[in-house]
Amino acid sequence: MDKRKIILDCDPGHDDAVAIMLAAINENIDLLGITVVTGNQTLEKTTNNALNICQYLGLDVPVFKGCPDPMIRPKFVAADIHGETGLDGPVFEPLTKKAEEQHAVLWMIDTIMKSDGDITVVTTGPMTNLGMAMRMEPAIVPKIKEIVLMGGAYTNGNVTPAAEFNIIEDADAAYVAFTSGRPITMVGLDVTRKALCYPAIVERMGKVGNKASKLFVDLMGHFCKSQKEVFGWEGGPLHDPITIAYLIDPSVITTKPMHCEIDIFSQQSLGRTNCDFFGYQKKEPNANVAIDIDVEKFWDMIEENIRKYN
Ligand code: BDR
Ligand code: CA
Repeated sequence: MDKRKIILDCDPGHDDAVAIMLAAINENIDLLGITVVTGNQTLEKTTNNALNICQYLGLDVPVFKGCPDPMIRPKFVAADIHGETGLDGPVFEPLTKKAEEQHAVLWMIDTIMKSDGDITVVTTGPMTNLGMAMRMEPAIVPKIKEIVLMGGAYTNGNVTPAAEFNIIEDADAAYVAFTSGRPITMVGLDVTRKALCYPAIVERMGKVGNKASKLFVDLMGHFCKSQKEVFGWEGGPLHDPITIAYLIDPSVITTKPMHCEIDIFSQQSLGRTNCDFFGYQKKEPNANVAIDIDVEKFWDMIEENIRKYN
């Protein structure tokens, strides 16, 4: 089986960190680079977090710093969930790994332009870098194999009743992606809220007893506590790695083709992913939207891949 070439565009972030962990070690994924965006925290912090994760896990993956602000609207961060650093919990050695010189958007454009149309862009943060790349160099659009994103919801959001964080943070960028005509797989809160990282899961991963398992436990210690404080559930939803799990084994989620429009116009529902679940608008579907997840299979994949770290 050919390895799936991906660019992981993220805003680490506790669940982004687990997505990196999974993408970097799985033998079916070729992680070309990590591009970082502002989101869970400011760009400086999310970039440092990505570098810290790579350094800690010994990953030889280039990290590129991207956009410090959304395309148009002012940024806001998710310190209530991810803390002041954006990755509260784990303690890292002094950072020596450095971000690459090139801007993430320019690297994304170069890399996709030079490719044979076989690169999948995975976004687990606001879609600013991808949206900017598409607008700066429209010739990349037909060369993108697929866009797989964690974001949105056809049920309730998590920032407003209408909107999920990654989409409302930069609704305009999401609009660019969803109107690009490229194949999109949307992994939204509708399924990620089923992957709750209960204490028993944290204990199970902790028992693996390697550096990746320690990082997982340290990450989830903070993440699950803040999720409980904000949303009231026992275990935090491990949103972002589901995108990577889907690329490793698509059967981990069930998807349904839908027409999905990003609301960039209204005030109350800004950033809503309006998914025509029943297809009554008779519009051509532009996204495969995740509607269910095999939770057992997902946790098995997480454990199996954590075990691969020495
Ligand atoms: C998304 O927002 C961020 O806080 C998480 O990292 C995830 O990507 C969930 O709404
Ligand atoms: Ca994220």
